[in-house]
Amino acid sequence: MPRRVRKIGVLTSGGDSPGMNAAVRAVVRTALEEGLKIFGFQMGYRGLVNGIFRELDFEDVGGILQKGGTFLQTARFKEFEREEVQDQAVDVIEDLELESLIIIGGEGSIHGAYALSRKGVPVIGIPASIDNDIYGTDDSIGVDTALNTIVRAVDTIKDTASSHGRAFIIEVMGHNSGYLALLSAIATGAEAAIIPEKEFDYRTLAKRLNKRYREGLTNSIVIVSEGAARGFHVLKTLNELGVDYELRVTVLGHLQRGGSPTFYDRIIASRFGYRAVHAFLSGKSGVMVAKQCDNYNLVSLEEVVNNRKEIPEEYLKMAETLMWEY
Ligand code: F6P
Repeated sequence: MPRRVRKIGVLTSGGDSPGMNAAVRAVVRTALEEGLKIFGFQMGYRGLVNGIFRELDFEDVGGILQKGGTFLQTARFKEFEREEVQDQAVDVIEDLELESLIIIGGEGSIHGAYALSRKGVPVIGIPASIDNDIYGTDDSIGVDTALNTIVRAVDTIKDTASSHGRAFIIEVMGHNSGYLALLSAIATGAEAAIIPEKEFDYRTLAKRLNKRYREGLTNSIVIVSEGAARGFHVLKTLNELGVDYELRVTVLGHLQRGGSPTFYDRIIASRFGYRAVHAFLSGKSGVMVAKQCDNYNLVSLEEVVNNRKEIPEEYLKMAETLMWEY
């Protein structure tokens, strides 16, 4: 009797992040090496529920490692919060006789993975979101690339700020986390970061900007996380308070989500993918692969969804020391 080939699935879900392709490639190639069949679902949970999938082979994931986005495509699929929609997904997984589903995505996607695991589906999560707001892992796929994009943009804007003697307010992503704003502010020497994790005093900022202006400093940079305030709101508030600098706003928006992944994101994505398949082979499910210092550990999905990732206190203190205001 020929041995039955074991089958697993993979999907990318939620907002795309650079390095998702590298993770899918690692999942597919590790699975094939181990003699598994691997199915890719298109457009995240939407494709899963509607049974849109195809079997993937070695060459299907060739030439994608260096590309941003996700060749499997992704979707924000709100409907997946509904129990009857999750049941449809369970049916598809059972019909295909998948022994595990590897879910690559952000916080919402990991919640979806947890919902499936509570229904008895063996799932393994891989953290991928530029926001770096997923509990249990130091880094998520895409954060490093997004930060590099932001740093390049801020450095570029500083040229114009200096030439014109202006202060720029730069809005970055992070719908409930100030990680991108704080880290990019530290890395670019910005004068302030406005983040949801800390109360912010606009009066003090206005005073300090005016002091810089009067001291002849040709530029000032304020980085604001979209989760704390919108850039144009900051502009209005500072104008009302009275700031001597001419003010401008730049909203970086989706520029931060695309682009070729950095070396770091390619490596962590590859290791997450490789490790996820090995976690399945060793009988694990209901877990997320997490990077903790230099180790790639497994954290239970229950722990991930029931905790909030905080910005390390050290970064907050350091920012306070290195800039005027945080
Ligand atoms: O969750 C990642 C993220 O990039 C957030 O920072 C941002 O608020 C959101 O996605 C934007 O999502 P969309 O592309 O669906 O508008």
